[in-house]
Amino acid sequence: MTTDATDFAAPDFSALAASRRSIRAYTDQQIPQDILDALLKDATTAPSWSNTRAFRVALATGERADRLRKEYVRRFNQTLDIQHHKRFATIKTALKRELPDGDFPVWKPYPKELRAPQVEVAKLVYGAYGVERRDYEGRDNANRRNVSAFNAPVMGFVFVHEDMLPWSAMDAGLMLQTLFLSAKAHGVDSCAIGVLSAWRGPVEQEFEIPQHYKLITGFCLGYADSEAPINHVNAPRPPIQLLEGK
Ligand SMILES: Cc1cc2nc3c(=O)[nH]c(=O)nc-3n(C[C@H](O)[C@H](O)[C@H](O)COP(=O)(O)O)c2cc1C
Repeated sequence: MTTDATDFAAPDFSALAASRRSIRAYTDQQIPQDILDALLKDATTAPSWSNTRAFRVALATGERADRLRKEYVRRFNQTLDIQHHKRFATIKTALKRELPDGDFPVWKPYPKELRAPQVEVAKLVYGAYGVERRDYEGRDNANRRNVSAFNAPVMGFVFVHEDMLPWSAMDAGLMLQTLFLSAKAHGVDSCAIGVLSAWRGPVEQEFEIPQHYKLITGFCLGYADSEAPINHVNAPRPPIQLLEGK
């Protein structure tokens, strides 16, 4: 059964879509299971390449999420010399077998043309945390919050079938945004957390993950702490760059 487009008001959708922001501080209020189920059900409505849905999702709550946060922070701490650009840090960390074991190269440099928006949003985020550019300790603390999924009650992980890339990644992204918008409609906030994909090990310890499914991003769900300055970051939303016709 299809639904007539006029059943929905476009301004309502625009308001919902605009109200979703990446939320980086949460209250400890848990998400009821029936709400989580509703979000997952809505996420099934996302389009998918040949309907293959070549992605998997893992959700962690409670003690499992806490174990994951601890393990992520432990592994993050092993990379501090790299974070601080110390000489030979990568080689030394590699010799200790402590390099991040993610499926994709999360920390590779951004292409030059994309540096400006990345720097802009980083300044906004670190600024809201009150962290100056050379304040390594402040940055480390902010990054520990990041790998702790901001202490949100639900930690999520998205895996994509390696033989269906790049379309499996596309499908996963469409699914995740549908999940996030459904979350917003249910009063639940979210953040995609790509940095969690820098390490696969912690998630391997907690879930049965087929080897051909690769960890592409983490995310979190919960209820925003509206008092936290970090949640007042408004990343710019420039227009979609339309290519000129020839
Ligand atoms: C795949 C992906 C990974 C992301 N990873 C992180 C992350 O590790 N940490 C973080 O604070 N934000 C992360 N973000 C959030 C982006 O910084 C955010 O979406 C962007 O700045 C736009 O802001 P908005 O979501 O509030 O509109 C990620 C977003 C996406 C789509």
